[in-house]
Amino acid sequence: MSALRIGVCGNGTVGGGTIELLRDQASLLASRAGRPLALTRVGARRDRDDCPLGDVPVHRDLLEVAQAEDVDVLVECIGGTELARDLVETALRSGKSVVTANKALIAEHGNALLALAEECGQSLLCEAAVAGGIPILKALRDGMAANTVTEVSGIINGTGNFILTEMGAHQRSFDDVLAEAQALGYAEADPTFDVEGVDAAHKLSILAAMAFSTPLNFSGVFCEGISAVTPADIQFADELGYRIKHLGIAKAHADGVELRVHPTLLPKDALLANVDGVLNAVRLEGHAAGETVYSGAGAGRLPTASAVVADIVDLARAGAEPVHCLGVPVKALKALPTLPME
Ligand code: HSE
Repeated sequence: MSALRIGVCGNGTVGGGTIELLRDQASLLASRAGRPLALTRVGARRDRDDCPLGDVPVHRDLLEVAQAEDVDVLVECIGGTELARDLVETALRSGKSVVTANKALIAEHGNALLALAEECGQSLLCEAAVAGGIPILKALRDGMAANTVTEVSGIINGTGNFILTEMGAHQRSFDDVLAEAQALGYAEADPTFDVEGVDAAHKLSILAAMAFSTPLNFSGVFCEGISAVTPADIQFADELGYRIKHLGIAKAHADGVELRVHPTLLPKDALLANVDGVLNAVRLEGHAAGETVYSGAGAGRLPTASAVVADIVDLARAGAEPVHCLGVPVKALKALPTLPME
């Protein structure tokens, strides 16, 4: 079978990891995807020593990759929402499917982009946008297909969890741990997204849309981060038998959906209270499957790239059939009112 030809835009943490996996796992991927996955183009605004590209053509103008004739799937790993949106729209209109790791893009513009993908007969997938290496969107889309999902909740920002864990366990300062998270490639380009809850709200809106088959509703998420949590808060919580975790919580009720991210007190013996460091954990509640919990690295080069490449494999297997990112076509989504916080 002919190769699926891939253009990767962005050679930083996630793009570089994706290129590395496509290269190092080529033969395993070809057998799992049923055809070779060939990296044909890279869009990179600057060279990086940690991302060797061999003889793959590199474009400084990323839109050239989105339009290149020898690209079937565009992988968007540049982050931000302006150029990324332009890039994704250009690729879809040029007859290419798109895989993105960009939660801000999907949370804020996903309704329009998913509609455009369908109009163009293409797929737009974003497994890497939520919970790094945990295949949580596939679990929802495929594994929970028979379920009415009533709740999805969990720790969905690795940087925030790393900061709370280190502040609690080693009495380190907030700024010191944040600097380490940035150096390790966990934090967003603008780390206020991590510490003010915005990144978790982006991810929760994607999880909720998929869980409840509703349009994306980022603006409906109540959002509070961890920047006001002090070492004294963590210590008092500990003395009272609790840990402080930053949670995203989405619940479906008869009259609407509840969407919120905020620091939460969890009893020390609760499962999520013991998910530490950069780990994420997501809990699903389905009427048939009951409670299921998924945990793993929520950020970082190879865990996130693993999710990107899994989406590429899905596209290779699907062939010309579009894959619906949220599990159903956009026109089958049903808006539900957002319930106010009590
Ligand atoms: N900044 C994000 C986090 C990266 O820390 O979870 C992965 O989405």
